[in-house]
Amino acid sequence: MASTWFALAALTAAGITNAAYSIATTSDIKQTAANVAWDLLQYYNGNETGQTPGILPGPPPAGDYYWWESGAMWGTLIDYWKYTGDSSYNDIITQAMLWQVGPDEDYMPPNYTASLGNDDQGFWGMSAMLAAENGFPDPPEKEPQWLALAQAVFNTQADPQRHDSTCGGGLRWQIYLSNNGYDYKNSIANGCFFNLGARLARYTGNQTYADWAETTWNWMRSVGFMDDDYNIYDGGHVQNNCTDINRAQFSYNNAVFLLGAAYMYNYTNGSDTWKQRTTALVDATLKTFFPDNIAYEIACEEHMSCTTDMLSFKGYLHRWLATATQVAPFLADTVLPVLQTSAEAAVATCTGGSNGRTCGFKWSTKAYDGTYGAGQQMNVLGAVSSLLVQEAKPPLTNSTGGTSKGDVNAGSHSDSSRGELRELTAGDKAGASILTIVILVSAVGTFGWMSTGV
Ligand SMILES: *[C@@H]1O[C@H](CO)[C@@H](O)[C@H](O)[C@H]1NC(C)=O
Ligand SMILES: *[C@@H]1O[C@H](CO)[C@@H](O)[C@H](O)[C@H]1NC(C)=O
Ligand SMILES: *[C@@H]1O[C@H](CO)[C@@H](O)[C@H](O)[C@H]1NC(C)=O
Ligand SMILES: *[C@@H]1O[C@H](CO)[C@@H](O)[C@H](O)[C@H]1NC(C)=O
Ligand SMILES: *[C@@H]1O[C@H](CO)[C@@H](O)[C@H](O)[C@H]1NC(C)=O
Ligand SMILES: *[C@@H]1O[C@H](CO)[C@@H](O)[C@H](O)[C@H]1NC(C)=O
Ligand SMILES: *[C@@H]1O[C@H](CO)[C@@H](O)[C@H](O)[C@H]1NC(C)=O
Repeated sequence: MASTWFALAALTAAGITNAAYSIATTSDIKQTAANVAWDLLQYYNGNETGQTPGILPGPPPAGDYYWWESGAMWGTLIDYWKYTGDSSYNDIITQAMLWQVGPDEDYMPPNYTASLGNDDQGFWGMSAMLAAENGFPDPPEKEPQWLALAQAVFNTQADPQRHDSTCGGGLRWQIYLSNNGYDYKNSIANGCFFNLGARLARYTGNQTYADWAETTWNWMRSVGFMDDDYNIYDGGHVQNNCTDINRAQFSYNNAVFLLGAAYMYNYTNGSDTWKQRTTALVDATLKTFFPDNIAYEIACEEHMSCTTDMLSFKGYLHRWLATATQVAPFLADTVLPVLQTSAEAAVATCTGGSNGRTCGFKWSTKAYDGTYGAGQQMNVLGAVSSLLVQEAKPPLTNSTGGTSKGDVNAGSHSDSSRGELRELTAGDKAGASILTIVILVSAVGTFGWMSTGV
């Protein structure tokens, strides 16, 4: 009797365990990542007849996803390929990333003008940079090349037109004067620029990029968007000289800066300054965003007031912490155990939906929470695939095997004001105002309890 009961109990337990993914071995990690990637791509139909290559359904109100998130998804899938070796999606990644370059090959396609921020452009630029760094197959010669695309994004953002003197410098959030949010300078726009600068410096060895990264970091500190304790706040308005700081903290801000800092540490051959900055920012990030060592989007997760955008931040957090340990190996002992614990919680949420394996968002509950979307899948994909970071090659440079062709002048022929000249359609305007409403609502939602009294 007793032995039968135990056998049954063991079977039941096994049944329950099998319902969730395993990440116990390298082959489990690859299998899990493959399934999560497949489920992620169910949100993408850009490779079907009559659809637009490169984009998830959107931007709102046409679908849930703003343009930037698609750029982020291709980066997630490039990392997936790098970590697992599964090249099943490489062709659609390449098609997507080339379709969206825009007429000046700088990731400013006119279709998305109404919601085109420096951060949106920056996310596509960082995915192009990632392709160059990982030796992702180079596009045919006649097509734009990964490194040149990253340089084009960087160069358009380094242009004096994008850096006015309000708030003592820095990039505005939106690129075009006509967009809501043009009067806002924020951490993510400057973080993408910083990150690209640091990575271009390391890849090409050109100090100019590093100088821009240094300037951007110093500006973030001077304006108080990054405080003495390495908290990073969302941003502030130019009409207030950026002193009306929105104190909401989002994990992608920390992630984008800590990865850039780790690259600067590497580029400077392990300088004390960048070692100290990287260490402090990583420590602050683990403290704020990993309670109990599980990723937590502190500004919106408790009450599930996260927007579609915010539902994807944990993936960048995991991926960029992982990559940081490649270029700043001293971080590995602190960071990797946390990423492991967090990833275990992440996969425990993937038991939902009709397929029984849809991933949720509230990882700390270790159970499916009823939500689903490209963000949720992308987060888990990033967390699981980057568990293989120690088996992966570190990011390449031009002198260590990188083959992507650059162009230091890429983007310099871009007409930064094209958005002004082009008449906005009613659809564009609706898109822009919805964006603002979402931002206002989320700012109110998060401020209610986050504000420290500014
Ligand atoms: C689009 O890509 C997905 C994922 O690779 C694939 O399953 C699907 O067959 C493709 N669709 C077309 C029309 O090529
Ligand atoms: C822009 O929109 C048009 C019309 O929907 C579409 O044909 C084209 O592929 C889009 N281009 C990009 C870069 O999204
Ligand atoms: C990158 O390497 C190639 C081949 O060695 C060289 O021709 C090129 O000048 C290098 N580019 C930079 C920016 O260093
Ligand atoms: C370094 O980058 C800057 C900024 O893009 C560019 O103007 C300069 O020509 C580059 N220098 C070299 C040696 O490639
Ligand atoms: C605006 O902010 C910058 C950066 O904090 C500061 O250097 C500058 O003095 C401020 N200007 C005014 C007019 O307060
Ligand atoms: C890093 O070290 C290399 C090799 O000694 C040197 O060529 C390079 O200039 C150094 N880089 C910096 C930013 O100091
Ligand atoms: C820079 O990164 C490489 C990996 O690309 C690593 O081997 C090297 O140790 C790093 N440099 C420092 C100073 O940590």
